[in-house]
Amino acid sequence: MRRKVVRGGTVVTEAAAFAADVLIVDDAIAAIGRDLGDGDDEVVDASGCFVLPGLVDSHVHLSLEVAGTVSADDFATGTAAAAAGGTTCVIDFAPSDERGLLAALRDRRAHADAEVHVDYGLHVVVARVTDRTLREMADVVAAGAPSFKVFMAYPDLMLGDADLLRVLRRARQVGGLVCVHAEAGELIGELVREALAAGDTEPRFHAQTRPPLTEAQAVARVVALAQMADAELFVMHVTCAAALQAVRGAQDAGAPVAAETCVQYLALDERELARPGFEGAKYVCSPPLRRREDQEALWSALRQAALEVCSSDHCPFDYRGQKDRGRGDFSQIPNGLPTIEHRLALLWELGVQSGRITPSDLVRVCATAPARRFGLLPRKGAILPGADADLVVLDPRRTTTIAAATHRMNVDYNPFEGMTCRGSPRVVLSRGEVICREGTVLSRPGRGRYVPRSPVAR
Ligand code: URP
Ligand code: ZN
Repeated sequence: MRRKVVRGGTVVTEAAAFAADVLIVDDAIAAIGRDLGDGDDEVVDASGCFVLPGLVDSHVHLSLEVAGTVSADDFATGTAAAAAGGTTCVIDFAPSDERGLLAALRDRRAHADAEVHVDYGLHVVVARVTDRTLREMADVVAAGAPSFKVFMAYPDLMLGDADLLRVLRRARQVGGLVCVHAEAGELIGELVREALAAGDTEPRFHAQTRPPLTEAQAVARVVALAQMADAELFVMHVTCAAALQAVRGAQDAGAPVAAETCVQYLALDERELARPGFEGAKYVCSPPLRRREDQEALWSALRQAALEVCSSDHCPFDYRGQKDRGRGDFSQIPNGLPTIEHRLALLWELGVQSGRITPSDLVRVCATAPARRFGLLPRKGAILPGADADLVVLDPRRTTTIAAATHRMNVDYNPFEGMTCRGSPRVVLSRGEVICREGTVLSRPGRGRYVPRSPVAR
């Protein structure tokens, strides 16, 4: 029997923060309380620190094949960076094709299993809706992947209203949750064509051709479809006040609609896209970065839980060799930002240290709520007896200045370059094992495990 005690810290749950030790026996939390453990126990010193549940990142894209290239972090580099930043469980995506949903899940697991440093789950992408797809949704839920990703944008992936409705209805039948990328794809296609025809090719036109109303319109449409199907819905990466209004409207009407935002929409704004030369490409993601006013609306929605989750939507592409495929045509810039490593440090600095959210809010939106929403509780996302001993000892005095030269992500720039964050992990534990200490990753590829998740209960 292996025993450890995390001693002398302030334990943070979604409900409270209080002085307590955490006793770990083997890979699980055994007790939370004062003066735990005996002289033989290994001690993890948490004095002066906060003890958080290991963060859950329910939206990451590792080794994502897109538009003839592949996102720059694989499951090994991406989850090592996650571990360094205090994330101990990620949910990536299994892209499906004509071989079907189950084959997609099996293949993606085989790929990830050999590489992951931390535990993981998978959402399954539904890019084409056939009778077989709908049948297989039940098998996928039974295989521990009860969440399905659908797209309303991107020509190769987007579904029309009728298909969205069919997926939503089927998800309701089989205990699945539909997660949606809500942007009005057809409308955006037209705006992009118009911009390119007018010679507007620089990165900033990426944002101008995806204005807030293209997001808000798609959110309102898919919310209506979910209401027609009487299905639960999870709206991914909400970025702006207009889209938030559509989410809140549904919630006020009692519809089971939940939503996330992502750290980049809180920490960066659209002005980054207008950087000189081609530098704005480093900030191209979809939906795009928005205005400062939108950021405050997002913070307030996180506080009030109108936005339930703050994930990373980590989707890194090198500036040289990948982002620069879009020189002369912004629509060819691969979409996405490298964000998996610094979510905790940024939210602690911009949220907790700046008084916008409490430590418990941070734990809720980055750990407990995503674990609950995606069927990982009580194993992940909370400091509870019996839960996996996934913990972060966060030292509020440990200052990080974010830099591509020192980050662990396998990408050649950092969109938060130069930002200084007061508070970062001293020690990170996964299932009772120290996987990162003082910024040094101690785990190994393949030690992470697939975590089967519970279906949606209604
Ligand atoms: O720009 C982004 N977010 N890229 C990742 C893929 C997606 O749309 O979520
Ligand atoms: Zn994404």
